[in-house]
Amino acid sequence: MKIAFLGFGNVGAPLADHLQRAGHEVTLAARSADAESVQRALARNAALRVAEPAAAVAAAEVVFLATPYAANAAVLPPLADALAGKVLVDCTNPVGPGLTHGLQSRSSGSAEVQALAPRARVVKAFTIYGFENLDDNRFPAADVKPMMLYCGDDAAAKQQVAGLIGQLGWQPLDAGGLVQALHLEHMTLLWIRMVRMGQRSPHLVWAALQR
Ligand SMILES: NC(=O)c1ccc[n+]([C@@H]2O[C@H](COP(=O)([O-])OP(=O)(O)OC[C@H]3O[C@@H](n4cnc5c(N)ncnc54)[C@H](OP(=O)(O)O)[C@@H]3O)[C@@H](O)[C@H]2O)c1
Repeated sequence: MKIAFLGFGNVGAPLADHLQRAGHEVTLAARSADAESVQRALARNAALRVAEPAAAVAAAEVVFLATPYAANAAVLPPLADALAGKVLVDCTNPVGPGLTHGLQSRSSGSAEVQALAPRARVVKAFTIYGFENLDDNRFPAADVKPMMLYCGDDAAAKQQVAGLIGQLGWQPLDAGGLVQALHLEHMTLLWIRMVRMGQRSPHLVWAALQR
């Protein structure tokens, strides 16, 4: 599958690396090929491709959005046409002052992302834990897989994203429509408060048991 990354820092770089190693053609949608972030991602995996954002998005089937949330209003509108019909994996979280919801829980960040790219098929995923787990989600002593929640309104898009989640070693768990994004964003805040403000290991993830 052809996958493009808008943003390849703490979150985007490990996901891009692992997806390339899983057999996908992964392109960094780079504002500048000389940027330090590009060089860091390439040092990690030289098989990643680099292209300017509009070309990378136009060629991709799935686009990962892993930019700072505040950048989305600048990043997405110029790409709105190129994103039409594409699966847009929203990895971003609106985090406000004092680790509160950045939109005061009035709307979700993913609803805003959908509004900025109206014809993209938005799926929120890879947001409920810190980047350490996107880098390394191996839990050798556990007999269940770590769980990754995702949500979105387009069933086929969600199926594609669930496939990628599974390839990366997670148990994908469908949380429902994009309306659930707000609740995923609150789960993120819960995790951040427990780990970044507390003493817990950043390799804290949730597992799902169901009967
Ligand atoms: N950090 C975590 O643990 C974590 C976990 C899950 C989700 N998230 C969410 O994931 C997103 C990315 O977080 P991160 O920690 O990976 O951030 P990061 O390390 O700062 O990386 C951000 C990436 O976005 C790029 N970028 C910044 N401004 C941009 C702009 N205006 N246009 C295009 N690209 C731009 C940066 O490129 P340059 O470096 O070249 O500027 C960099 O590649 C955030 O929304 C965050 O809430 C974070």
